[in-house]
Amino acid sequence: MTTHSLEALRTRAAAIVADNDRGAYTVPTKGLYPFQWNWDSCLTALGQRHSDERRAFLEIETLFAHQWPDGMVPHIVFHTPDDSYFPGPDVWRTGRPTPTSGITQPPVAGLVLRRLVETAADQAFAEEKARTLLPKIAAWHRWFHAMRDPAGSGLVAILHPWESGRDNSIDWDDALARVPTEGVEPYVRRDTQHVDAAERPHKAEYDRYLWLVQRFRDLGWDNRLLHDASPFQVVDPAINAILVRSDEDVAHLAERFGDKALAEEAQARAARARAAFDGLWSADLRQYLPFDRVAGQLIASPSVGGLLPLLAGLGNAEKRAAMRDRIRTLRTHVRYGVPTHDPTDPRFEAKRYWRGPCWLIINYLLADGLDRCGFAADAAAVRADSLALVENGFAEYYDPLTGEGLGGGNFTWTAAILIETLATSAAA
Ligand code: GLC
Repeated sequence: MTTHSLEALRTRAAAIVADNDRGAYTVPTKGLYPFQWNWDSCLTALGQRHSDERRAFLEIETLFAHQWPDGMVPHIVFHTPDDSYFPGPDVWRTGRPTPTSGITQPPVAGLVLRRLVETAADQAFAEEKARTLLPKIAAWHRWFHAMRDPAGSGLVAILHPWESGRDNSIDWDDALARVPTEGVEPYVRRDTQHVDAAERPHKAEYDRYLWLVQRFRDLGWDNRLLHDASPFQVVDPAINAILVRSDEDVAHLAERFGDKALAEEAQARAARARAAFDGLWSADLRQYLPFDRVAGQLIASPSVGGLLPLLAGLGNAEKRAAMRDRIRTLRTHVRYGVPTHDPTDPRFEAKRYWRGPCWLIINYLLADGLDRCGFAADAAAVRADSLALVENGFAEYYDPLTGEGLGGGNFTWTAAILIETLATSAAA
C-alpha cells in the first residue's frame, strides 16, 4: 500500500471513531450497538490515544465509573435509553444507578492501561490517571478469581457465552446445548433488524442466552451465587490468557508506582493461573482448549480462543511454536487471516459472526502475542491481513474466504485498532 492510501485509511478510521464518540464514551456502531461495551471501549482507547491521550483515558474512566461494588465491570453500560438494542435494561434489571448488564467481558483494561502509560507523550498526566485506575482494575481481577473460580483452581469460568466476547463461538455449543429454554419470556430480537440473520447467532442460541440472563436475574445478580447455580461454566483459554497478561501488566505498573503489595498480589494470581494452564492443552489439536467445568472435560473446538494464550506467552517454547504453526496453517486455508475457527472443521461458517469470520481485534491480539513470543514475521503477516481486510471497509467482521465486510458497518474498534496497527507496525 502507498503512503498516500495508508494515510487515507487512517483518516477514514479516525472519522469513524469520532462519529461514534458520545463525549465520554464511544458506541461500537450506531443502531446495532447504541451503548458502551466493555472491551470495545478499552481497545478503542488504543486508537484514541494517537489523536487525544486525554480522551483515551476518559473512555476507560467512564467504563470504570460503572464498576459494581463487588468489583465486576459490566459488559454493557446503558448510558441513555435506546430501543434499537435487545436485551435492554428492562430485561437485565440489575438495579444499578445507571443501568448496566449483569455479566462481564474479557479484561483487557489492564493490558491497555500499561500501553497507554508507556506510550504517553504526557507522562505526568498518564501516571496520575493510571494511579487512580489501577486499584479499580485490580479489584476487577480479584472479583474474577473470587467469583468465577470459587474452588480455587487458578482459572476462571465464564457463565454466559457473551462474557467471552466471542458470543456464538463453536467453543460454547456443547455446554450451551445443556442450558434449558423453558420459561424464557417472549422477546423480539433487534440485531436481525439491523443485520442479515445469516450473519448472526441462531434463535436456539438466543433462547439459551436469555434463559441464563433470567436465571441470574432471579438470583438477584448476587455473584456469590451465580457460579454454582449456572448450568454453563466454561473455562475459556482466551479470557484466562487476557487475565494473566493484564495481571502481569498491573503488577508491572504497581511496581513502577511503588505499590509492592499490589504488584505481589497480581503477580501471584498470574502465577497460579500459569501453573493451571497446562490442563487446557490438547496434544492432538496442538493448541489450548476450553474446559467445560460442569461436564468435567475439555471441549474439542479448534478456535482462535486456544491460540490467544500467546498474548501472555503461556506454555513452553514448544507449545508456543505449535500455536504459531496453527496460525500459519489456519492462514493457508483462507485468503484473509486469521479465521476465528478452523476452516477444516465441518462446523466452520465463513459468514456467521464468531464461527469463522476474521475480527480485527483478534488479529491485533494475536499479532501482539506472536511478537511477544518472538515470532515477528508471523505477527507482521497477521497485521498485513488486517490492512488488506479494511480495504473492504471498517466492518464489524469479515469473511475470511472473500474478505467481504459483514455485520455492522463503520465499526469503532475495527477503526481504532487499525489506527493502532498502522502506528505500531513496520508495514506502516
Ligand atoms: C458483540 C461481540 C462482542 C462485542 C459487542 C459490541 O456482542 O460479540 O465481542 O463486545 O458485540 O461490539
